[in-house]
Amino acid sequence: MKVLLYGSGAREHALYEALLKSPLLNKKDIYFAKTGAFADDNIIVFNDYNELAKKALELGVGLLIVGPEAPLAQGICDVFKKYDIMVIGANKYWAQLESSKSFAKEFMSKFGIKTAQYVVLDNVLNIKDALMKFSKPPVIKADGLAAGKGVYIPKTFEEAQNVACDFLNGKFAEASGKIILEKRLFGRELSLFSLWDGKTLLSFPPACDFKKLLDNDEGENTGGMGSAFPCDLSNKEKKQIESYLAKLQKALELSKADFCGVIYSGLMLCEDDVYVLEYNMRFGDPEIQSVLENFCGDILDVFIKMSQGRLCEVNLNFSNEPSYCVVLASFGYPFSPKIGCEIYNLDVAKNYEVKVLYAGVKKQKEKFFTNGGRVLNLVKTGKNALLDIYEVADKIKFDGKIYRKDIKLR
Ligand code: AMP
Ligand code: GLY
Repeated sequence: MKVLLYGSGAREHALYEALLKSPLLNKKDIYFAKTGAFADDNIIVFNDYNELAKKALELGVGLLIVGPEAPLAQGICDVFKKYDIMVIGANKYWAQLESSKSFAKEFMSKFGIKTAQYVVLDNVLNIKDALMKFSKPPVIKADGLAAGKGVYIPKTFEEAQNVACDFLNGKFAEASGKIILEKRLFGRELSLFSLWDGKTLLSFPPACDFKKLLDNDEGENTGGMGSAFPCDLSNKEKKQIESYLAKLQKALELSKADFCGVIYSGLMLCEDDVYVLEYNMRFGDPEIQSVLENFCGDILDVFIKMSQGRLCEVNLNFSNEPSYCVVLASFGYPFSPKIGCEIYNLDVAKNYEVKVLYAGVKKQKEKFFTNGGRVLNLVKTGKNALLDIYEVADKIKFDGKIYRKDIKLR
């Protein structure tokens, strides 16, 4: 089996490490597209997805695994299907569950999946009327993909009015030509990853994401500063999640969802029930890093069975100990991170059996430099995993290093 892994971040690095454990392939059989510092060889350069698929086919690639959302929304999986290459990733139509929040909201409403009350808007003249439908300032969301920046939680109606206006006037170009106003919910957030093969929905236990930049969930929203797996859940919460998943399975069946890929439900556990905040059609970064670290099995075998419509044969097994991922980021993240600084002491991680995954890293000769907001992920499973990760986090050095000190199970 030859595999093409698409994407450059720590999520893809984690997938790469997981693939390397599979007895079904050799290291030389993994190819990369738009990759990161974790790949040295086997990098396919391309101008468009047709060219990529052609080259992949010539090399004998049988399976494409897509990490990030943008290529899914652009239809990479539809192209690869034409070349008879199996894919792990939604087609362009179903990628809309992530790339269009109004599409996702309609899907949820149609199938009775609980989500916050909402209004869709595409004209600044209607903002005032729409705001009147809410008793408290609603959350403002760009309809399209906005690199994780398209959600704003205003404190006042005046702020809501201004932000809605900015969004509709092109703050995120086409992505905010349409917006959603949505009732603000309160509760604990979970990331729930499910695999779908067209018939079966198979879910991982939920993981916790630490989205805020600073300890105690203060500061800016980020792509994620750490993760822990599995989440601590009461029996009542587990039941609510199971019943949500049964609804999702039914909804996908009834709408004949003809794709083979990942569905990431961004959930909020509210007082009365679990609500969907958003769908993503990929694994969450950095949550999947701690999930994969914990996973006991052959992820490639899972992907192959999934692409053959045999997910019903798969069991997902996990270690009994929790796992964690702590993100080392660069000062200025998430707005204008400092980059180009040399990273020292990466080798120290080995002494603690902590895995180092590259997010925004550039390799030059044998040296490593910061090259993005989130720079490294430190990952480990086990009772003392957090202590070891934090020892390593302290010892790895680069100018402007920041990280949260309060990653834990929750
Ligand atoms: P989204 O991209 O829709 O997940 O939104 C990003 C973040 O905004 C979420 O992880 C939540 O922290 C927050 N958020 C989104 N929608 C709501 C909502 N309806 N109520 C409260 N917080 C929300
Ligand atoms: N950690 C959240 C995300 O991947 O969108």
